[in-house]
Amino acid sequence: MERDEVNRVGAGFSRREFLKGSGAAVVAGAAATSAVEGPLEAQQPATKIISAEPHTIKLNVNGKDQNLTVEPRVLLIDALRNDLNLTGCKDVCDRSTCGACTVLIDGKPVYACTRFAIEVVGQKVVTAESLHSLEKTDDVVTAFCKYDAIQCGFCTPGFVMAVRGFCNQNPGATEDACRRALGGNICRCGIYDGVLKAAYDTAQIAQ
Ligand code: FES
Ligand code: FES
Repeated sequence: MERDEVNRVGAGFSRREFLKGSGAAVVAGAAATSAVEGPLEAQQPATKIISAEPHTIKLNVNGKDQNLTVEPRVLLIDALRNDLNLTGCKDVCDRSTCGACTVLIDGKPVYACTRFAIEVVGQKVVTAESLHSLEKTDDVVTAFCKYDAIQCGFCTPGFVMAVRGFCNQNPGATEDACRRALGGNICRCGIYDGVLKAAYDTAQIAQ
């Protein structure tokens, strides 16, 4: 997943915009109602102001609807890890640079540290936990094992989700395309060669 792609996914509002919102729970959404009146209205995107109180929301994660109560400031990665006990996505850089927190949102790889939990209501979130069960192991997991594409493992859940999302959308991808797709994920142990081979294998199986 290339970093530009990561930042383009999911237009609307961002963590950065939230932080600029003077500490208030200010959320801008395409379908939201404008709270801005007067001449500025034409210049600014529609905004919706919601309270900073906890909200009960329903998230669809790994095919199941999950109810949770979170403040609007809670990031998707924290909701997944702390509220739903899905600790596969790792909080490594906390600033949209490493990819260790990658999940799929409506099929696209996205950094979970760049989304609020309330932002993904109505979308389908898929985490690394979905890739293995007693009944089935996903091809991407098998490929990572085959090529020993793991050392400390901290980056691995993010890589496997980036590969899974890319291969779903690009079956039969070339090695170069696989390499570019992995551009948004960093491994400090340097197992890139194994990851690339695993990604290429997975892409060929996905054809
Ligand atoms: S923890 Fe999200 S990109 Fe690094
Ligand atoms: S295997 Fe250690 S950071 Fe990637």
